[in-house]
Amino acid sequence: MGNKKLMVHDFIRMKQEGKKITWVTSYDFPTAQFAEAAGMDMILVGDSLGMCVYGYESTVPVTMDQCIVHCEAVRRGAPNTFVVGDMPLGSYQASDEDAVQNAIRFVKEAGVDAIKLEGGKRVISRIKAILDAGVVVIGHIGLTPQSSGQIGGHKAQGRTAESAKLVIEDAFAIEESGAQMLLIEAVPPEVSSFIAKKLSIPVLSIGAGPDCDGQLLIVSDLIGQFTAFTPKFVKRYANVAEVVTNALRQYVTDVRSGLFPGDEHCYHMIKGEEEKLKEMLKEYE
Ligand code: KIV
Repeated sequence: MGNKKLMVHDFIRMKQEGKKITWVTSYDFPTAQFAEAAGMDMILVGDSLGMCVYGYESTVPVTMDQCIVHCEAVRRGAPNTFVVGDMPLGSYQASDEDAVQNAIRFVKEAGVDAIKLEGGKRVISRIKAILDAGVVVIGHIGLTPQSSGQIGGHKAQGRTAESAKLVIEDAFAIEESGAQMLLIEAVPPEVSSFIAKKLSIPVLSIGAGPDCDGQLLIVSDLIGQFTAFTPKFVKRYANVAEVVTNALRQYVTDVRSGLFPGDEHCYHMIKGEEEKLKEMLKEYE
């Protein structure tokens, strides 16, 4: 899409024109640069950074301060891409005031274009409060990892008619609240395609099938960097873990065998200086 940063009205137009929106997570400066160079429409600085960057077992321990630092790095790496900050557990659950304060931190300190928060009907007052403060909001329903304890683990949602109804009601509530976009995670295409057709805001999918208005993947899954587990919805486009491990293994071998560094990696003395040095060194013999 060139170098022009897309904004919410562009994403609405893309939905209307049937053009798919591309979205990926990033947590650092170089990956954000790669995403922007690849022509990505949006970047999410997800709280999945807890697992993908810090090695935590879940997103639960992730703090606002960590999210802000990573958003700042991504903003610097992708100045012309729509960047979304992900509100971590504890940053919006207690009150509307907390939600507004933390959403504003994302915008003010890290320069993000929008925030995302998990939950449907139960977070409507938070969404409205953040919107009232002038911040763009993206809802997130279906599998919501921060409340995985309540929804029976990291499991697809909406696979029974009764559960699908809850997801659909959440989607309607999010649109009605005024949120500008909606992300649906791990929900059958039969359900998400109905939602995408009914809603006028862009509906993005992570594991919610092909009929949504765009797709999100976690970059560490996509490039094969995070290998602890791989959800069914992931398509792996590279094997960075293998490439990097092989490179590091080769380096270890080269250092141990004396193959590295070679002459081409050395800074030789300026012409004529070597002789002078030899003379100087005589006094130490
Ligand atoms: O943190 C994240 O990357 C997310 C995705 C799983 C949607 O919220």
